[in-house]
Amino acid sequence: MARKIIIDCDPGQDDAVALLLAFASPGELDLLGITTVAGNVPLGLTQRNARMLCDIAGRQEVRVYAGCDQPLRRQLETAEQIHGATGINGLEVFEPSTPLQSEHAVDFIIHTLLDADDASITLVPIGPLTNIATAMDREPEILSRIERIVLMGGAMREGGNRTPSAEFNILVDPHAADIVFRCGRPITAFGLDLSHQVLSTRDRVARIRALNNPVAAATADMLSFFDRYDTVKYTSKGAPLHDPCPVAWLLRPDLFAGKDCNISIETQSELTMGHTAVDFWHVTDRPINATWMHTVDAPGFYDFLIERLARFGEHA
Ligand code: BDR
Ligand code: CA
Repeated sequence: MARKIIIDCDPGQDDAVALLLAFASPGELDLLGITTVAGNVPLGLTQRNARMLCDIAGRQEVRVYAGCDQPLRRQLETAEQIHGATGINGLEVFEPSTPLQSEHAVDFIIHTLLDADDASITLVPIGPLTNIATAMDREPEILSRIERIVLMGGAMREGGNRTPSAEFNILVDPHAADIVFRCGRPITAFGLDLSHQVLSTRDRVARIRALNNPVAAATADMLSFFDRYDTVKYTSKGAPLHDPCPVAWLLRPDLFAGKDCNISIETQSELTMGHTAVDFWHVTDRPINATWMHTVDAPGFYDFLIERLARFGEHA
């Protein structure tokens, strides 16, 4: 039976590819809804971008919700310098036909979980954790319904990408991340230590473009834009493709390796705000609350992504 998931996102080119990977995998993933949050760009754009992706993939029936437009306690920080003014630069903007649901994303998360069996729904947050933390705070009964939280966020060995200490998703809403990492449900965390191994090199993007279907072309266009800033920043051969990692793990866990540890979030120090303190060597007695993913078979990951994106050409 397909695993029931909710993707909580802030598209973002890499969020967009994560959505496409989920759309391409209906046999394994039952996407109950897409909830959007302010992050890479403001909420008005993240919800619009998610709906554009549904249109591009021909999945206008997928339910898209808008959630929190500000972090719990901090001012919103966005990332247009990486993603472009629209959040998904590389794509021509259009008004999508996929409707925005009228219900607030947090209400959708709460009622969907309350209506579900225990440990039956997987949450896949790939943006700041504001919607998820707000839902947990407002209705703690939902916790027992969560099977696992599979998220993109944090950094240990790699250091931060937004400050020396913090990865963007955690930095934008560290108080929300603190709530989620303390929630008691199983967490699989994909941070920069892992996603910086997943590089969209020119060769890989060319293989995606060569699939010659409209969804693959849109993916290649987005990744070509995404490349510009990060390759200069990291002097790497391609931009890291962060957000598809959690979705790929749900489909192909054999491509990844991780270690169970305690992960705690810094919410006090301005200098290291949003740091994920990953107790990788178990040097504290803090309880294990997550699996920190650290290694990926990157060639295998891209082979798999390309295989799945090819599916969009099969029914054309
Ligand atoms: C994360 O931040 C965003 O810019 C990306 O979409 C990803 O979720 C990487 O730090
Ligand atoms: Ca994201």
